[in-house]
Amino acid sequence: MEARLRDIREGIDHGRFPAYVFNDQEIFDLEQEKLFGQAWTFLAHESEIPKPGDYVTRYIGNNNLIVARDEHGEIHANLNMCRHRGNMMCKSEMGNASHFRCSYHGWVYKNSGELIGVPYLAEGYEGKLKRKDWGLVKARIDTYEGLVFGTFNEDASSLEDYLGGFQFYLDLYLKQGPNGSEVHGPPDHWITETDWKIAAENFAGDGYHTPVAHQFGFNLGYFPSSGATHSQGWAASIPGKGHGIGLGHTPGFTPFAGFPDALTAEIKKSLTPDQVEVFSNTRTAVGTVFPNLSFLMQPFSLIPGETGVRFVTMRLYHPIGPGKCEMYSWCLVPKDASDEYKEAAYQAYTLTFAQAGTFEQDDLENWARLTRMAKSSAAKGIEFPYLMGMETERDEDFRGPGHVVKPYVNDSNFRNLWGRWADYLLGEA
Ligand code: FES
Ligand SMILES: [Fe+2]
Repeated sequence: MEARLRDIREGIDHGRFPAYVFNDQEIFDLEQEKLFGQAWTFLAHESEIPKPGDYVTRYIGNNNLIVARDEHGEIHANLNMCRHRGNMMCKSEMGNASHFRCSYHGWVYKNSGELIGVPYLAEGYEGKLKRKDWGLVKARIDTYEGLVFGTFNEDASSLEDYLGGFQFYLDLYLKQGPNGSEVHGPPDHWITETDWKIAAENFAGDGYHTPVAHQFGFNLGYFPSSGATHSQGWAASIPGKGHGIGLGHTPGFTPFAGFPDALTAEIKKSLTPDQVEVFSNTRTAVGTVFPNLSFLMQPFSLIPGETGVRFVTMRLYHPIGPGKCEMYSWCLVPKDASDEYKEAAYQAYTLTFAQAGTFEQDDLENWARLTRMAKSSAAKGIEFPYLMGMETERDEDFRGPGHVVKPYVNDSNFRNLWGRWADYLLGEA
């Protein structure tokens, strides 16, 4: 396996990547251990658990966790597994509870994870069991602008280092005004026969597929863009970190179109001058935080030809098997926006990138077929070309960080993404 991974790593630098990794048991198992067992994984947005006692259950790899806000307002992520015999503690996906009581023998834990109740403690354990030693297993957590990430890797560097400058781009989605962004309701989630990597790559800036897979948008006038101008814009990635974003640009486009004017003014105040300059030129921003958290912002209108409403979807691709993942998709809205705008943004999101959204359906149809093909015996020996923009130099006039190239249609972000993926699998990240 090591030799195969070395080949893959070398191939990436030459613009090649194998087909079979998108649906393979051995790769899946290795990813669980070497990637999801080591990297930072997105768990929740803080606004999903605003009050003491609020919790959601989420995953790091195949480990289910309770992400809860304790009575002091602090967030904890604990393995959702009773320390007595391993029962699943919390069966709901979200709720509010100060304590969790195991349904098997009745051990009780605070929502922060401390064990506080053990039936027959004195009579049965004869002083041998110290409650403080048997709390729920804690994950490390760290946050950025409302995003809560977790890892079981004690040696992982800080989240700040992990994001490595990608925060500049994330702020577009997260600093939508003075009080930032919040989720608009719980996530949609559904299981799909799609490998998580296909979705992660697409959202790392695949502007190439848009005029074809989402052709309806051009034909009906749903995009403030056209097949002719669609390649314009930038692909930005953070070298060695795996994160990437595509920034689609339409010439003559009104900066921040689709936001109410008052909101645009507030957003501009929350961003740096460099960010304002970069995002003023952005029609669509579609990015992936390595490995499996993505964002997309764009305007959408039900009325062809009109700019409509700018919305944000945040999505997570939780791998549940080779070629299979559970998608989580949220709508993020500016916390300080009017209810009317939030509803309009949620409507635009629902029509496009919720489970039954038009864009989502276009993508899933393709992704599921790609995943199926990747499993075929012929796929074992097939590589894909990742050759776009191999020679393109960094756009030195661009005011954002990372490796930034024009045009937006480019494989540069994907080479960086798969390079990081291979580094993790090789234990060299
Ligand atoms: S398994 Fe939880 S109390 Fe026994
Ligand atoms: Fe798409």
